[in-house]
Amino acid sequence: MQIDLSGRTALVTGSTQGIGQAIAVGLAGAGAHVVVNGRSQERVAQAVHAVRAASRSDEVTGAAGDLATEEGAAAVLGTTPAVDILVNSLGIFGAASPLEIDDAEWLRYFEVNVLSAIRLIRAYLAGMKKRGWGRVVNIASDSAVAIPAEMIHYGMTKTSLLAVSRGFAKDAAGSGVTVNSVIAGPTHTGGVEDFVRELVGAELPWDEAQHEFMVRHRPQSLLQRLIEPEEIANMVVYLASPHASATTGGALRVDGGYVDSILP
Ligand SMILES: NC(=O)c1ccc[n+]([C@@H]2O[C@H](COP(=O)([O-])OP(=O)(O)OC[C@H]3O[C@@H](n4cnc5c(N)ncnc54)[C@H](OP(=O)(O)O)[C@@H]3O)[C@@H](O)[C@H]2O)c1
Repeated sequence: MQIDLSGRTALVTGSTQGIGQAIAVGLAGAGAHVVVNGRSQERVAQAVHAVRAASRSDEVTGAAGDLATEEGAAAVLGTTPAVDILVNSLGIFGAASPLEIDDAEWLRYFEVNVLSAIRLIRAYLAGMKKRGWGRVVNIASDSAVAIPAEMIHYGMTKTSLLAVSRGFAKDAAGSGVTVNSVIAGPTHTGGVEDFVRELVGAELPWDEAQHEFMVRHRPQSLLQRLIEPEEIANMVVYLASPHASATTGGALRVDGGYVDSILP
């Protein structure tokens, strides 16, 4: 299957590192013009450089803005008024004792992880529908369906993204625009590597460290290793492509079998 996204413009939120950056590289490598996003100009400029190098494409630009705020979203929409492919990848996560998460923290998680995506879908979907082609992919998590007790506020945002994806797919029905979510499982990003090292010790070689981590702390994974960001990106690039024209309103799993369910 040859995926050719030339002539398409894609915005990937939260792509200065981690999964978002891998998605940006994947889309640029498939020929799309990719707009990289993060909160600061400096980090975005570094990421543009990194994505260009990794994808061997010059079709990479940046749009800085904190998408958890109206002003930040306006700044991004100012430089990028229309896209064919929108990937909402930005997200924050952290552990907290459920009874100690206050109103402000619940709201912060909702604004950063959910409202940021809704704002951009609202801004871009009408144009996609009018042009008769578009792709929206929201990055959810195993925590959307297997809510961790120490991350209820995070899990809530990812469950919300599944609902948001399904709902906007209905709004786009029959238009040539698809809206989907990807349920990502435990993935080998910088933050997760630090977390693994903290739990199993810094001295083990990486392969042994992650094996130990999976066996002890993530036994439900059928993959028994962390997922590489490129493996999430592969699914997103496929969903963003014309080949995925019959897949909409879905939640696609790239979770290494982590969620013990036949359906998401
Ligand atoms: N890692 C995992 O194991 C895992 C598993 C399942 C799902 N996920 C999901 O996958 C997505 C990416 O995760 P990750 O681990 O790759 O994240 P990460 O390494 O922590 O990167 C987060 C990205 O989001 C950006 N960001 C944060 N807040 C932002 C805001 N308000 N406006 C714009 N950009 C913002 C950061 O950019 P700046 O700091 O430069 O602003 C950064 O590029 C998240 O939605 C996460 O929930 C991750």
